[in-house]
Amino acid sequence: MPRPSAFDRALLGGRSPDAFLSRCWQREPLLIRGAIPALRGLPDRRALADLASRDDVESRLVEVVEGRWSMKHGPFARLPRRRRDWTLLVQGVNLHDPRVDAVMRRFDFVSSMRLDDVMMSFAVDGGGVGPHLDSYDVFLLQVQGRRRWRWRRSPSTSAHAKAVVDGVPLKLLANFAPDDEAILEPGDMLYLPPSCAHEGVAIGDCVTASIGFRAPSWNALTQEFLFAMAERSWPDGRHADAGRRATRKPAAIDPSMLASIERTLGAIRWNRHDIEDFVGRHFSEPKPDVYFDPPRPKSLARFAARAARGGLVLDLRTVLLYRGSRGYIAGEPFALPGTSRAALGRLADRRALDADATAALLADHAAAALLHRWWTDGWIHFA
Ligand code: SIN
Ligand code: CO
Repeated sequence: MPRPSAFDRALLGGRSPDAFLSRCWQREPLLIRGAIPALRGLPDRRALADLASRDDVESRLVEVVEGRWSMKHGPFARLPRRRRDWTLLVQGVNLHDPRVDAVMRRFDFVSSMRLDDVMMSFAVDGGGVGPHLDSYDVFLLQVQGRRRWRWRRSPSTSAHAKAVVDGVPLKLLANFAPDDEAILEPGDMLYLPPSCAHEGVAIGDCVTASIGFRAPSWNALTQEFLFAMAERSWPDGRHADAGRRATRKPAAIDPSMLASIERTLGAIRWNRHDIEDFVGRHFSEPKPDVYFDPPRPKSLARFAARAARGGLVLDLRTVLLYRGSRGYIAGEPFALPGTSRAALGRLADRRALDADATAALLADHAAAALLHRWWTDGWIHFA
């Protein structure tokens, strides 16, 4: 889907991305009326139910029956018949529907390293997931029907505000005290920074899309980085102690073993290039449940002829990142040939390349071989 050439300021309530980012992002909620007014063709109840019946799509069903909350994980062969108090949540809808991907790409004024996915929910009257906190920034876009949102204008920090109800399969806030509320109509959107408590309740049937962001936890990121450094530094090294002496204190920490561990850990080194390489691989890595569908193979010549006629697009699941002379796609690094650096950068940023730009890029042998390989792996497609 072509990108609007200029940023559509309605999306952020008349603000430029910079104005929004400096004022609201990670700081305060923002209610935007008519953010995306002409929403058409996005998944409805039926389309979401179809997605939720698939075992390669993550879905949940949250219900309140006689005052008791329950949550089930999909796939679901059918949805409840009841008219009240349930909601179906489908994760990663952008990976399956190009129109939802196009909505998500409107938020590409934030790095794709921060974009996560679009979760969509269908709810019947009274349906919702209860009052809760999310750890991430989110834009809650009302797609169909109406929903009453109530929220806190500032992040919850105290233990009292964060306390959850015991014995419920969801993290429901025990002391939710909203200080703002609004009924959202189709096209309206509510931005919430991390940790702002909120609750959305459907007024009749409604569909909501959550454009979610991700922020790596330092703990998880460090673990993964050190794992990569360990793999690289010591692919198969092991402690060895030929010629060791007998001990009479077998429970005492072995001093020579301790010294050898200290030497080993102290010898692990990394530099800026290692960090950059790790970041490129990590943030371009597809999610664990993502699989690509490779096409029927074509020779490089046939591939190039067809691509040059119509251009190329990235698969919805592909993350392509670049920095300087290196690029990363689907968790793998590649060298960016100097002559085609600008064009490949454009493909990464816009997620598509028109026929002329593709033809020019294919004139470079290294770039043509790279694109052919990506196409063969199902990472890019003919436009
Ligand atoms: C929903 O769509 O019902 C839930 C969105 C949220 O509150 O995170
Ligand atoms: Co939420």
